[in-house]
Amino acid sequence: MLKAAGADFEFQDYVVDADQYLRTGEPIPDAIWKELQAADSILFGAVGDPRVADPSYLAGVLLRLRFELDLYVNLRPAKLYDERLSPLRHADRRQVDLLIVRENTEGLYVGMGGRFKKGTEHEIATQEDVNTYAGVTRIIEHAFGVARREVVMIDKSNAMTFAGGLWQERWKAAAAQHPNVKTRHLLVDAAAMQLVRNPSQFDVIVTGNLFGDILSDLTAELVGGMGLAPSANVNPKTRRGLFEPVHGTAPDIAGKGLVNPIGAILSAGMMAEHLGHHDMAVAIEAAVESAIRAGECTRDVGGSLSTSEAGDAVVKRLRD
Ligand code: IPM
Ligand code: MN
Repeated sequence: MLKAAGADFEFQDYVVDADQYLRTGEPIPDAIWKELQAADSILFGAVGDPRVADPSYLAGVLLRLRFELDLYVNLRPAKLYDERLSPLRHADRRQVDLLIVRENTEGLYVGMGGRFKKGTEHEIATQEDVNTYAGVTRIIEHAFGVARREVVMIDKSNAMTFAGGLWQERWKAAAAQHPNVKTRHLLVDAAAMQLVRNPSQFDVIVTGNLFGDILSDLTAELVGGMGLAPSANVNPKTRRGLFEPVHGTAPDIAGKGLVNPIGAILSAGMMAEHLGHHDMAVAIEAAVESAIRAGECTRDVGGSLSTSEAGDAVVKRLRD
């Protein structure tokens, strides 16, 4: 698809999968890790296999890439390409085109904590929510950099006062430095409600790792479902990036031609944008929008095409 869009990138494929992990016990083999570290951008499929229940596999693949490459910005756009895909009754609430800027290297995802008296009735499990001054500052700063009209910061500072306190302080400091951007703060529960009630009110949302994870599934559903949602994990300073659909591997429908390729295609579009190919990114998004509007898409979004046919429908438009 990227080739159809005119990309003359050097492509290199790596197989990092559960088969390989079950054989070797290594989530990402060292030799491949070295190459991934050296890559400009990584286009990532998805992770998750019913045979691997151990969360350390996930931590060793996706979270390792995000953390060790320091991809601290996770961008998750939600844009409604066709009214037909919207669950919203009112036309004026269907103008959805928002971006979630999710903190991607800290929060409840760092894997700190433990289980005390494990396996007994007295067990205690802790999971630390790690928020650093530097980490919170840089993600909020990024949100201001990409805002078009407003930045909404979402936390749970009424109940989680330590982490929330730091977010509040860094948020107020950043807002003071960007007097030309509108700003608003919402608690995450109220934000979830507002996102369902009228998502067209949102432009850029900035939030922590877990809230960003949860809210981006919600926003994906508002614009047609998980099959469409793309994401970018980037470090704007090193320019490294990893691009992946928001959805997982969907083992229940794998191999049946039912999977929607658009989440992956739009992720490749975000990669093109990140690599400086703005026109290519625009063309990819336009091709996707046109295919969706023509109903040339998979069943989850109201079409009747298979995965590869739906991919071809986009590629054909890029070639024309
Ligand atoms: C996502 C996924 C991941 C996350 C999982 C697979 C760890 O749900 O990219 O949204 O929670 O970040
Ligand atoms: Mn998720």
